[in-house]
Amino acid sequence: MCGIVGYTGEQAALPILLEALKRLEYRGYDSAGVVVLDGELTLHKAKGEIRELENVLPDLPGTLGIGHTRWATHGAPSQHNAHPFVDCTGKLALAHNGIIENYGVHKEALLAKGHKFTSETDTEVVLHLVEDAYEGNLEEALRAVLSRIEGAYAFALTHADEPRKLVVARRDSPLVLGLGTGENLFASDVPALLRTTSKVLYLMDGELAVLTPEEVRIQAPDGSAVDRKPEVVTWDVEDAERGGFPHFMLKEIFEQPEVIHATLLGRLSDFENLEILRGADRVQLVACGTSYHAALVGKYILEEIAGIPASAELASEYRYAARSDGKPLVVCISQSGETADTIGAAREAKRRGSRTLAVTNYVDSSLTREVDESLYTRAGLEIGVAATKTFTAQLVALYILALRLGILRGTLTPDEARKWTEEIRALPRAVQAVVDNAPAIEALAREFSQVRDMFFIGRNVNFPMAMEGAHKMKEISYVHAEGYAAGELKHGALALITKETPVVALLPQDHTYQKMIGNVGEVSARGAPVVAIGYEGDEELEKYVDATIRVPWVRSIYSPVVNVVALQLLAYYTARERGCSIDKPRNLAKTVTVE
Ligand code: F6R
Repeated sequence: MCGIVGYTGEQAALPILLEALKRLEYRGYDSAGVVVLDGELTLHKAKGEIRELENVLPDLPGTLGIGHTRWATHGAPSQHNAHPFVDCTGKLALAHNGIIENYGVHKEALLAKGHKFTSETDTEVVLHLVEDAYEGNLEEALRAVLSRIEGAYAFALTHADEPRKLVVARRDSPLVLGLGTGENLFASDVPALLRTTSKVLYLMDGELAVLTPEEVRIQAPDGSAVDRKPEVVTWDVEDAERGGFPHFMLKEIFEQPEVIHATLLGRLSDFENLEILRGADRVQLVACGTSYHAALVGKYILEEIAGIPASAELASEYRYAARSDGKPLVVCISQSGETADTIGAAREAKRRGSRTLAVTNYVDSSLTREVDESLYTRAGLEIGVAATKTFTAQLVALYILALRLGILRGTLTPDEARKWTEEIRALPRAVQAVVDNAPAIEALAREFSQVRDMFFIGRNVNFPMAMEGAHKMKEISYVHAEGYAAGELKHGALALITKETPVVALLPQDHTYQKMIGNVGEVSARGAPVVAIGYEGDEELEKYVDATIRVPWVRSIYSPVVNVVALQLLAYYTARERGCSIDKPRNLAKTVTVE
């Protein structure tokens, strides 16, 4: 995720752009830039947060400009990779949020034509393609280029020869237009517009829009005019930052379809060159907390999809164990990339002679500097202390890793790889169905919100999900919860099961189903109310449990992705019902930099 903004009107553009960018910083803050038009284009960029940019900015008088705050995907966070970009003529400027999948082919051709690139980004190819296509009409040039690019985008462009005009277009990345009087603007999200106007128009996928101070024109993908009525936003700025949600955590849960899509983008058809995977014959996954639960799922994913032996370990324990297991590939999973225990484990793995790979959400984190290679999730900034969207993005990264390993090792045939890939592509839609079911989960949470203890049970790939469900419940609602491998209850914890201890059972219809039904019987016989998370269309389920949360059918190995979203919602609504401080739970910090 990145944030883009643009303004055209009668006021000085720069203060409006900067204020708007600060409202978009949640979408990325590793570098930022602005371009302002005042006869000619003036460009300023800086590595770091918006205030770093502010520190280097002179006063710029122009009344039209574009701004960008970046969350790096292609090309490290740096001043030269920061957006916007200006073309070889110095007259055209462009900023982008998204990923261009086929930038490689275009770049070669553009270089051969003599275009000068100033960055390593995928974005810059689009700039030079528009430069080539430009014949005096910016929207026409952009439209001609859009048909040649693949990927996700929200683009913002301006050209010095058309000095009052901004052109934007979007596909799979958000963009909202703000309508003022004698001024118009756009941004990736509503909060960035609210200082100027509350009248907004949402741009839809495939649409392009032209903004001047006097008017906003929207065009459909075929170029025809779109007539859409503006909406008036009634949120204040603070509400708007949470997208109208009462908490960041809920907003972040709802962002998961977009995040999964973003993390997959460009990685299924054209696998990243993860050289480090070559020759790996065993994988050790190391992490803490929620990321450790991703590591536990990762073991199942790697063994099932790639047929490679894998194990998961707590980073805080890793360094103390005696080793007799050679030099496996060590994968360190950390959303922040700053967790001291995980960084310590990465160092220890290197000391033992292992190759190391980070799965993280932060391109320039301490962990990425410690390891040999990194695979980035693309979840954007997560503000809620409880990890939600960064966790599902980690699972997606692990599926990508497993596919890559399977292909490299020859354990997956191209047909099998295609089958797995198709099913992964369906995950954003499946997760959307789970979040759409939030009202039913909310009603259920109300029923159980006053309990003191809860149990979560699952088997196989859903055993770690039972742990994560309990972990989320503890963190934000302060209900004592335990996540158990369903078959283990009878070896001890069953003694704690009574009618006062609700049990949440993860029940995908897979090879563990019948055994899970048996375990549900064990707890119901002790009077425990049972809530099942099960597939739509599983008619059997109601016979055995007291309540059900339905999730769409996905292959068992993918079921953690849909199940965890239901578990996150259950924890969230329970915490809300109990009046807890959801985004900032007591005693916890978002990043744990002590061992
Ligand atoms: C749970 C949570 C923590 C983190 C853990 C590791 O919601 O947020 O358990 O998962 O502190 O953090 P990262 O992934 O940043 O290494």
